[in-house]
Amino acid sequence: MTRSLANVLITGGCGFIGSNFIRYILKNDGFRGRVINLDALTYAGNAGNLMDMESEHGGKRYFFEKADICDRPAVESIFSRYDIDTIVHFAAESHVDRSVQDPEAFVKTNVLGTYTMLDIARKAWNNRKDTLFHHVSTDEVFGSLGKTGYFTESTPYDPRSPYSATKAGSDHLVNAYRHTYGLQTTVTNCSNNYGPFQFPEKLVPLMILNMLEGRPLPVYGEGKNVRDWLYVEDHASAIWLVMRRGETGESYAVGGGNEWENLTLVNTLCEKVAAATGKEPTTLRKLITFVKDRPGHDLRYAIDCLRIKNDLGWRQSVDFDTGLKMTVRWYIDNMRWVANVRSGAYREWIDLNYGKR
Ligand code: NAD
Ligand code: DAU
Repeated sequence: MTRSLANVLITGGCGFIGSNFIRYILKNDGFRGRVINLDALTYAGNAGNLMDMESEHGGKRYFFEKADICDRPAVESIFSRYDIDTIVHFAAESHVDRSVQDPEAFVKTNVLGTYTMLDIARKAWNNRKDTLFHHVSTDEVFGSLGKTGYFTESTPYDPRSPYSATKAGSDHLVNAYRHTYGLQTTVTNCSNNYGPFQFPEKLVPLMILNMLEGRPLPVYGEGKNVRDWLYVEDHASAIWLVMRRGETGESYAVGGGNEWENLTLVNTLCEKVAAATGKEPTTLRKLITFVKDRPGHDLRYAIDCLRIKNDLGWRQSVDFDTGLKMTVRWYIDNMRWVANVRSGAYREWIDLNYGKR
C-alpha cells in the first residue's frame, strides 16, 4: 500500500527537523502535492529557514501560516482553507534543559497542542480512510538505558524529564485517537538528530559555535552519557517512508546505530572544527569545561530500528564522519543565520512580514 498525499499540513515546519523535512519532500520526485507549514514562530522557529522553498514554490506548492497549534479556530480555518488530508506533526517544545527550568510551555504545546490537532483532524476527517496523522516523537519516551540493551517499538514507556513526559503524553493521545475514534495514525520515535538549521542550544551546534568563538565547551557531569546520533535528512527520509508506506496504527523506532559518549563526541568535534578552520585541536580541547549535571540526566539512549529497516527498507545515507563535517561547514558558512537566530533579528523581520504573535 502506498498512500497518495495531496495537501500536507506540517506543524513546526520552521524548526530544525521540520524545515529540513519540508525541503526534503518538496525536492522529492515522489511528491507532487502542496505543503502547508503551520508554525507559531517561537524562539526556535524561523520562517527564514525556508526562504529558498518560499522563493521556489511559494503560493504554488508551499504556503506558510503563522499560528499556534493550541489555537483551535486558527487551525480549523487553515484546515478547511487548504482541504488538508495529511498532517505531519513536528511542533513541540523540544529542549530538555528548558523543560527542567519551566515545564509549562511543554505541557501546553506538547500535550494540549497535540490534543487540539488530533481533535480537529478527527472532526474534519470524520472517519475518512484516505487521511493520515503522522506524529513525530522521540526515543526519550522510553526512559534511560543502562550500559546494554536497545529501545524498540515495544519498550514500555518510562519518560523521566518534563519534556519526555509531555512527548509520551502526546504519543498516548495519538494512540487513543486511533483506538477510540479510528483516526488514521502513524508514529516515529527517533534518536538525536544533528545537521543544518539546528538551534544553537543543542549539543552539536552549541559546541561548534563555542569552538569557533573560543568560548568554554560545557560538558554536563563527567560527559559519560550516551546518545545515538542520526543526520537530520535521514530522519526526514524515515518519516517520508512511514507516511507513504507505514502500517496505519503502528509506530516505528528510528536511530543511527551510532552511539557516542558526549565527551568523546565533543573531542571529535574539536578535530572536525580544527580541520575546517586551521585551529589547533589541543587549543580547542582546552576549552572543555565540566559543569553541573542536568537534573535527572538520562544515561543512555540506543535504538534497535529493525522494523523500519525490514518492513519498509529504510537505510540511513549519511555516515557520522561525513555528517559532522557537513554540519561544521554549514555553521561556519552560515554565521549570519546564527547571529540572526541569537539576536532575534529574524523575529523582528517575521513580525513585520507576518504580524506580531
Ligand atoms: P525545534 O525546537 O527546532 O522546532 C520546533 C518548532 O515548533 C519551531 O519551529 C517552533 O516555532 C514550533 N512550535 C513550537 N510551539 C508551537 C506551537 N504551540 N504552535 C505551533 N508551532 C510551534 O524542534 P526539532 O528539534 O525540530 O524537533 C521537532 C520534533 O521532532 C519535536 O516534536 C521533537 O520532539 C521531535 N524530535 C526531535 C529530535 C531531535 O533530536 N531534535 C529527535 C526526535 C524527535
Ligand atoms: O533523543 C532525542 C532527543 O534528542 C529529542 O527528543 C530532543 O528534542 C533533543 O533535544 C535531544 O535531546 P537531548 O537532551 O539528548 O539533546 P541535547 O543536545 O540537549 O543534549 C545531548 C547530550 O549532551 C545530553 O546527554 C546532554 C549533553 N549536553 C547538552 C548540552 C546542551 C552537554 O553535556 N552540554 C550541553 O551544553
